[in-house]
Amino acid sequence: MIGRLNHVAIAVPDLAAASAQYRDTLGAKVGPPQDEPDHGVTVVFIELPNTKIELLHPLGAGSPIAGFLEKNPSGGIHHVCYEVDDIRAARDRLQAAGARVLGNGEPKIGAHGKPVLFLHPKDFTGTLVELEEV
Ligand code: CO
Repeated sequence: MIGRLNHVAIAVPDLAAASAQYRDTLGAKVGPPQDEPDHGVTVVFIELPNTKIELLHPLGAGSPIAGFLEKNPSGGIHHVCYEVDDIRAARDRLQAAGARVLGNGEPKIGAHGKPVLFLHPKDFTGTLVELEEV
């Protein structure tokens, strides 16, 4: 059911420092910071030949990644995103298998303008999983 790895998201305490490290030390193609107020994050997209990395930094009060950075002050992998063809069909199949979908279960428009859902990390080997319809 799942397809390509769309991105790996890494929460970082210092977006400028992390961007510089990926650009200058790792030699990656690093985009500019983009505020995503609907998601409470500022994102930097990094294009790799086979996937993307997203650096996430809290934006505004009540950011969903603020707690993660409190527990992981030097940053860490926040979630992985897999592509699916039909996000509602994927959700129905996962819920039928007992997996928990976060929020109200309805897809939201994600940082790439496509419908996304998140799956409970306790149901997926301790990893927050994002599904994105492509
Ligand atoms: Co994501």
